[in-house]
Amino acid sequence: MKGVVLAGGTGSRLRPITFSMAKQLVPVANKPILFYGLEDLAEAGIEEVGVIIAPQTGDEIRRTVGDGDRFGLSIEYIVQDEPLGLAHALKTALPFVDGDDVLMYLGDNLVKQGVADVVRDFNEDRPNCQILLTKVDDPRQFGVAELGDAGEVVRLVEKPSNPRSDLALVGVYLFDQTVVEAVNAIQPSARGELEITDAIQYLVSSGREVRPSLVTGWWKDTGKKEDLLHANELVLSDLKEEISGDVVGGAIRGVVRVGAGSRLVDCEVAGPAVIGSGVQMARTTVGPNTAIGDGCRLLDVQIEDSIVLDTAEIHGWSLRDSLIGREAKLHGAAPAGYVEVMLGERSELRGE
Ligand code: DAU
Repeated sequence: MKGVVLAGGTGSRLRPITFSMAKQLVPVANKPILFYGLEDLAEAGIEEVGVIIAPQTGDEIRRTVGDGDRFGLSIEYIVQDEPLGLAHALKTALPFVDGDDVLMYLGDNLVKQGVADVVRDFNEDRPNCQILLTKVDDPRQFGVAELGDAGEVVRLVEKPSNPRSDLALVGVYLFDQTVVEAVNAIQPSARGELEITDAIQYLVSSGREVRPSLVTGWWKDTGKKEDLLHANELVLSDLKEEISGDVVGGAIRGVVRVGAGSRLVDCEVAGPAVIGSGVQMARTTVGPNTAIGDGCRLLDVQIEDSIVLDTAEIHGWSLRDSLIGREAKLHGAAPAGYVEVMLGERSELRGE
């Protein structure tokens, strides 16, 4: 079985962060989201992976992910010229798949249980397609599956306005080679995309076996800031303690990781929280559910439930539910109380 990981698209719901970086490289607990999926594929025994990239953000993904060695994978990059849908991305990858079974993984998804179990089920029972489903509060934002009395897939609809079930399609799909016929048979949807949901509906309508399995652990699509922060919280809840930097005065409570070369002076850190390497922090309160990237500088800051990307500088602000881009700066007289900010790369906020 080959893996196809989708790391193209525009990331429009995470702007301004995604004006300057691919959304799949935004870090969760200080690791790019995309890495979690690649690790899942390696753990499931998949060796060859095609990563779909967009012309705009592809180079950064190539640079960051490399040839796959660090994951135990052999990675090939496949450029999708335009983001014309998930089924279009898979179609673009068909020469790479070359008639094998394929596991398609959306590069902005995080699946706690990994994919080893579903790969094993698929290999044992050989349905034409296997999908993962999970109950969600607002199915209108997802592909939605309707199941029959025997638990079989009856119908699949992409982002329905009147969903007939609360079972969303998770971004992990396994196919045998009948998917080639399916992606070639469908037409663009109302939003102009070739939908993988429609390709799977085609398989259902043409009598192929589409097997649903329910996700057991949590699952997160990190398309929006709230989801990204929630994913950060979920991943941090499994954090292992490791303090490599210098901690001078202050207090550390709960599970905290501090990277090498970091220096925390008179700081209060409440885990779960991860602080990268080479971070300079003084008189700062961090956490819980917070990730501070490498090389950041925080002075007189209070921050919780937030993600700060590498080399950002914050002086005097109190932040909550915030996403701060690489090399962004917040300084000057801060507003009273906590603020919630999403700040793009190299952007600057200065209070008067
Ligand atoms: O997250 C699960 C949901 O993912 C499913 O429930 C939906 O059925 C499915 O359509 C998809 O919906 P999204 O609207 O969340 O997909 P999004 O546009 O965010 O794209 C998912 C990933 O695929 C993302 O990493 C970007 C990448 N992508 C997207 C498109 C449209 C590509 O590589 N190429 C593309 O053409």
